[in-house]
Amino acid sequence: MTTLLDYLHTRRSVTAKALAEPGPDNTQLETILTIASRIPDHKKLAPFRFLVFEGDARDQFGTVLSQAYAAENTHLDKTEKSYQAVLEHEQNRFNRVPMVVAVIASPIEHTSVPEWEQTLTAGAVCMNMLHGIHALGFSGQWLSEWYAYNSQVHTALELAEHENIAGFMYIGTKTANPKERARPDVAALTCYWQAKNKT
Ligand SMILES: Cc1cc2nc3c(=O)[nH]c(=O)nc-3n(C[C@H](O)[C@H](O)[C@H](O)COP(=O)(O)O)c2cc1C
Repeated sequence: MTTLLDYLHTRRSVTAKALAEPGPDNTQLETILTIASRIPDHKKLAPFRFLVFEGDARDQFGTVLSQAYAAENTHLDKTEKSYQAVLEHEQNRFNRVPMVVAVIASPIEHTSVPEWEQTLTAGAVCMNMLHGIHALGFSGQWLSEWYAYNSQVHTALELAEHENIAGFMYIGTKTANPKERARPDVAALTCYWQAKNKT
C-alpha cells in the first residue's frame, strides 16, 4: 500500500520530447488499454474508443498534420524558413515517440446518462491510461494541442460528428526524469459545506 501511495503522491507525466524507444509491444498495449477501460462508467456505456498510431502510421499522420496546418495558415509566407520548419515539425510530431493512442470520446444517446458524464468517463480513461503506462515501466503525456480541435484532422481520422478527441496519449520510455511542478493548494480549494440557515 505504501508503494501505491508513494506512486500517487509522486507520479509525473514525461514530455513527449523526453520519450524514446522502446514503446509497448502488442501484449503490453493490450494491458494498457484494458487498464484504461477499467473506469467508472455510468450504465456501462463505454462512450470512448481508441486509435493507435505506431510504425508508419505516425508518419502518415504527420502528413495529415502538415496539410491541415498549411490549410489553416494560407496567409503565411510559404517560402519563409520558419514556415518550412513548422511543416517539418508537424510531419515529425508523432515520429518523436514510439506510440500515440488517441482516446476518442464517443458519447451514446441515453435517456438518463447526460453527455457530460460520458465526457468525464473519457477523461477518466485518459488518466487511467497514464497509470497503466507507468505501471508497465513506461512514461506518457496527455496532450491535445491544436490538432485535437481541427476539423480536417477529425475528417482524416474519420471521427463522427458527435465525437471528440479526449487526448492524444504519447507513450515511450523516459530519457530524463521530470522535475516536480507546482501543485494546487488543496486546502484553498476545499471547504466543508453547511446549510446557511441552520434551524
Ligand atoms: C485534456 C488535457 C490536454 C492537455 N493538452 C496539453 C497540450 O496540448 N500541451 C501541453 O503542453 N500540455 C497539455 N496538457 C498537460 C500535460 O498533460 C502535462 O504534461 C500534465 O499536465 C503534467 O501533469 P502531471 O505531471 O501531473 O501528469 C494537457 C492536459 C490535459 C488534461
